[in-house]
Amino acid sequence: MYARIAGTGSYLPKKILTNADLEKMVDTTDEWIKSRSGIEQRHIAVPGETTTDLAVPAARAAMAAAGVGPADIDLICVGTTTPDLIFPNVGTLLQQRLGIHGCAAFSLEAACSGFIYALSVAEKFVRLGESKCALVVGAETLSRMVDWTDRSTCVLFGDGAGAVILKPSVEPGIISTHLHADGKYKDLLYFPEGISTGFNLAGQGKAFLRMKGNEVYKVAVTTLGRVVLETLAANGIDKSQIDWLVPHQANIRIIEAIAKRLEMPMERVIVTLATHGNTSAASIPLALDAGIRDGRIKPGQQLLLAAFGGGLTWGSALVRL
Ligand code: COA
Repeated sequence: MYARIAGTGSYLPKKILTNADLEKMVDTTDEWIKSRSGIEQRHIAVPGETTTDLAVPAARAAMAAAGVGPADIDLICVGTTTPDLIFPNVGTLLQQRLGIHGCAAFSLEAACSGFIYALSVAEKFVRLGESKCALVVGAETLSRMVDWTDRSTCVLFGDGAGAVILKPSVEPGIISTHLHADGKYKDLLYFPEGISTGFNLAGQGKAFLRMKGNEVYKVAVTTLGRVVLETLAANGIDKSQIDWLVPHQANIRIIEAIAKRLEMPMERVIVTLATHGNTSAASIPLALDAGIRDGRIKPGQQLLLAAFGGGLTWGSALVRL
C-alpha cells in the first residue's frame, strides 16, 4: 500500500513586493537580488492576513483537484513555522475553517523543510491504513519574522501556502521519504524568541529572523546533495530516472548546484523562485502545484522533492505522480 497524491493546490497573497519596491526600502538593487538569489518579486500577506488565511484556499484547491469534500478528510497535517497562534495549532484552525470536525489535526515545525516533514508523517498514516484521505499543507507568513530594514535577509522571503491530498493506492505513490536534522547548525538560521525563553528579550516586536547566509548556503548545498543521492541509492534508481526535481526555493544558485549533481538540465527543474521568493514550508507544494497545473508534470512521472531549512533540517521525497 502506498499514499498517492490525488490533488494539489496553492495560494499566494495578492500583495506583490518587487525588487524595485525593495530598492526604496533598503540599500539594495534589483541586479544584486536577481544575480545573488534569482528572486524578482515575492507575495506578502497584508496586516491581519494569517498563515491559516493562506492555507484555506490552498487546501480547498487541493480538495477540488482530488474531488474530495470536507467529510472525506480524516487527517490534517500542516508544516509551518509561522502559526497564527501558539495554540490552537494551524491544523485545527484550518480544520474549523474548512468545516471539518473530529479528525486529527496538527501542525509541525521544521522551518523550510516543514512540508517534507509533514508529507513524510502523513504518508505513514495513509500507508498504514489509519487515514483514507489526508490533507497535507505547507503554509507560511515568514514576512512577519523578517527585519524589513535588514537587506541581507528581507530580500529573500515571501508568503504563501501549498497543499496536497493523499489517498491510499496500490500503485506508488510516495515511494520513500528521507528526513534529517542536525541541531549543531542552530545558530546559522533561527528566530531568537519564543514562549519558554520569553517574548521580550529584544523588546516587544523587535526580534527578527537571524541568518548567516554564506554558511547556510554551503551547508544547504552539501546536505541537499547528500540527501538526493541517498534517495536514489535507497530506491536503487539512476539519476536519469527522475523526471522532475522539485526543490525548496531558497536560492537559484543552490538549486542549480543540486541539478548539476543530478546531471539534470534546468528544463527539468521546477523553479518558482523568481516570482515567489523563499516561502519556507510552502515553497515545495507551491512549486509542485505550479508544475502540475501548467502541464509540465504529468501523471505517472517520477519526482524528487528536496528541502532544507532552519534547525538545520533537511529531507527528500521520491514521488510517482
Ligand atoms: N543588496 C546589496 N548588497 C547586499 C545585500 C543586498 N540585499 N545583502 C548583502 N549585501 C552585501 C553584503 O553586505 C556584502 O557586502 P561586503 O562585501 O561589502 O561585505 C556583499 O553584499 C556580499 O554579501 P554575501 O553575504 O557574501 O553575499 P552572497 O553571495 O553570499 O549572497 C545570500 C548572500 C544571502 C543571497 C546567499 O548567501 C544565500 O542565499 N545564502 C543562503 C540563504 C538561504 O537559503 N536561507 C534560507 C534557508 S531555508
